[in-house]
Amino acid sequence: MKIAMIGTGYVGLVTGACLAKIGHEIICVDQDQTKINALCGGAIPIFEPGLKEIVDQGVQNGHLSFSTDLTQAVESVDVIFLAVGTPQASDGRSDLTQVENAAKQIAKAANGDKMIVVKSTVPVGTCRRVGRILGKHDIEHAFHVTSNPEFLREGDAVSDFMQPDRIVFGTNSTDAEAIMCEIYAHFEATKVPVIKTSLETSELIKYSANAFLAAKVAFINEMANLCDATGANVDDLAVGIGLDSRIGAAFLKPGPGYGGSCFPKDTLALTILAQEADSPSRIIESVVDSNSNHIRRLGRKIADFCADCWQTDKKHPMIDKRIAVLGLAFKANTDDIRSAASTVIAPLLIKQGASVIGFDPEAAAAAGAAIDHIETTTKIDEALSGADAVVVLTEWDAIKMINWAEKKTLLNAPVVIDLRNLYSPESMAKLGFQYLSLGRPTAE
Ligand code: UGA
Repeated sequence: MKIAMIGTGYVGLVTGACLAKIGHEIICVDQDQTKINALCGGAIPIFEPGLKEIVDQGVQNGHLSFSTDLTQAVESVDVIFLAVGTPQASDGRSDLTQVENAAKQIAKAANGDKMIVVKSTVPVGTCRRVGRILGKHDIEHAFHVTSNPEFLREGDAVSDFMQPDRIVFGTNSTDAEAIMCEIYAHFEATKVPVIKTSLETSELIKYSANAFLAAKVAFINEMANLCDATGANVDDLAVGIGLDSRIGAAFLKPGPGYGGSCFPKDTLALTILAQEADSPSRIIESVVDSNSNHIRRLGRKIADFCADCWQTDKKHPMIDKRIAVLGLAFKANTDDIRSAASTVIAPLLIKQGASVIGFDPEAAAAAGAAIDHIETTTKIDEALSGADAVVVLTEWDAIKMINWAEKKTLLNAPVVIDLRNLYSPESMAKLGFQYLSLGRPTAE
């Protein structure tokens, strides 16, 4: 099927390339000429494992192309995916300007009846609103609007698309449902569950999935704090509860709090949506609070632990200290620093008087541009050299596999604060480190 993908950001590019891989003919459209030029020249604007291979393959076999010409793309297809950004507005709501503008442009360009598939994460009611905008700006043609949320994780997006847990779409016509089934027919063979719902249910499934996952992360972080306070071990606790199939083992890794472009934005948007529907969600409101309190609490914990280790003034321990922050991206296998722990922790340390050098294999440049006064590097040794303490924020393999026996000599003081629980407290203690992790008793 010939499909136009409006918006060639993270979701649009991955979805477009994957739809091309399963046999469709995709035109990815973006108004950003520089991005389209780069893609036409074979460059991928984001770091996403496996993406370059399928983009190259799609371009070579003629299934994938890139353009800035929305009108031409709309004229040449019957199905248009909307994957434009829905960033967080200053009041916490989703800013739907890009969705609405795209709908107006599609209506202006339409040369026949079209189906619009909304991939962007949007509040309940948006698909109907898109339908109204289309109808208002083009009374000549018929438009079917469909909701088709994505469940792609950054860093695993290609495999998440190719091996989905489920496919969800919401439609309000049997014609639209039949077209959606045709688009995803490739997955029939692998028996991927297809959930067909109303527009509203499909829109809400996306928000509830992210909110539930965010709640799991916030929950395990609170349990880690409780383990610290009681001498229990959060790693064992996660295994102990995760083996209950009603709970599940995934998303029970304590960390510096959830970040990224989705959970923080979507949880907040859901609380507002719920308030406006006069059905407030106290649970999700608490998750949002819990996550922001967690990172602030960790900021204090780092300073207190360092002061103890260095035996310095508890009030101003960071003055003139050099801190190596390992991992600047919000999680491993991405170059994305949106709502990353590094964007909170590094400025906090700098404000307290420390000089901070951040290491990240992919996100160093972005973090260097976004965080004032941080020095960044893509070389671990450069970050560790002369550091008075090391703060681990991202679970990159390169960070997991550090040989601390060897790297210890680079440090000014053997102090490691591991906010991803990557190393064993016993091994770190044996190597002579003063080591702090989350919710695990300190080894002597
Ligand atoms: C998330 C969802 O997992 C995807 O299903 C969804 O499609 C996507 O949002 C979206 O809405 O577009 P993503 O933001 O890429 O994907 O990242 P996750 O892997 O879900 O991680 C989110 C945050 O939770 C990260 O900061 C991560 O470090 C943290 N996390 C996750 C933990 O701290 N512990 C865990 O056990 C799991």
